[in-house]
Amino acid sequence: MLNRSLLIVDDEPNTISTLKRQLRRESYFIYSANSGDAGLKFLKENDIGVVLSDLMMPKMDGITFLEIARQIKPDVVRILLTGYGTLKNAMDGINRSQVFGYLTKPWSPEALSGTIEGAFQHYNLVQENKRLQKLTEEQNKQLNIVNENLENLVHERTLELEEAVREGVVMLALAAEAKDDDTGEHIYRIQRSTRDICAALGKSSKESERIAFFSIMHDVGKIHIPDSILQKPGPLTVEEWVVMQTHCIAGWKILGDKPFYQTAREIARSHHERWDGNGYPDGLKWDLIPLPARIVTVADVFDALTHERPYKKAWPLEEALAEMEMLSGKIFDPEILKVFFRIQKKGVCL
Ligand SMILES: [Fe+2]
Repeated sequence: MLNRSLLIVDDEPNTISTLKRQLRRESYFIYSANSGDAGLKFLKENDIGVVLSDLMMPKMDGITFLEIARQIKPDVVRILLTGYGTLKNAMDGINRSQVFGYLTKPWSPEALSGTIEGAFQHYNLVQENKRLQKLTEEQNKQLNIVNENLENLVHERTLELEEAVREGVVMLALAAEAKDDDTGEHIYRIQRSTRDICAALGKSSKESERIAFFSIMHDVGKIHIPDSILQKPGPLTVEEWVVMQTHCIAGWKILGDKPFYQTAREIARSHHERWDGNGYPDGLKWDLIPLPARIVTVADVFDALTHERPYKKAWPLEEALAEMEMLSGKIFDPEILKVFFRIQKKGVCL
């Protein structure tokens, strides 16, 4: 709502009457005070948009009154009424008290109306700007709350999705593992060993966890291998070995082409590569073999040696480690094996 309240401060009742008469056609609420003190009191207690003050008043002059008025209500638009003869002397005060404008006696009704109307327009424009600014700030606050809620919701849903994906991966790994080891313990042991080796290699806990998680998919391609080969209690024939070796490419294919599963694909495809290039399926050597796969190779062979399989008994720990040491630089990346032995001594991998 527009403010139209005008306060006239003048010690001359005649001047106040004249001003009121000349402004009677305008839609203002006009109040008056006969001194600076009375004007300030009224200003404090009322919602005034514009003050028009005479300069020459006893006790408190107009400049002093307007300066104090500015301190009390900085937004109130201030106009000084002064005689033409005193205008020059009053200019310093006018500038100092930052008045909106001044009227010189005698004033014309047009100058009076124009100055007062301009002052109200200025006042109401400033108030409207403040209102809009406040509204924008409130709306921004609301928007921030909505954004925050949305972010929380997206985060929650993302966690749910990630959990669902993880469960899916575990289910698939367990399904593949069931043909080999119905307890499903093998994949969790590989996961633990892989995590420990990654951490000992200096990878962050997040990265170690990620590689370890995908390590459980290393043998997912065994879903395609007949039980007669997987569970054969004795040595495999050459033909059976050829079939067995296809589990690497089969696993790599099962894991599709999404970037999310890139590490899982590398592990599934390359965990039977050898450091010396005599592995399968691609005959990669050295660090051309993806690092996660080289890590899983160590974890997988160690687990195979130290646990019973249909075709062999579990090896004692010392014998398994001695065998692996002999294969350093042949099957295993020597650096990774060194790290593995170090954490074995500390009793981390079991
Ligand atoms: Fe394998």
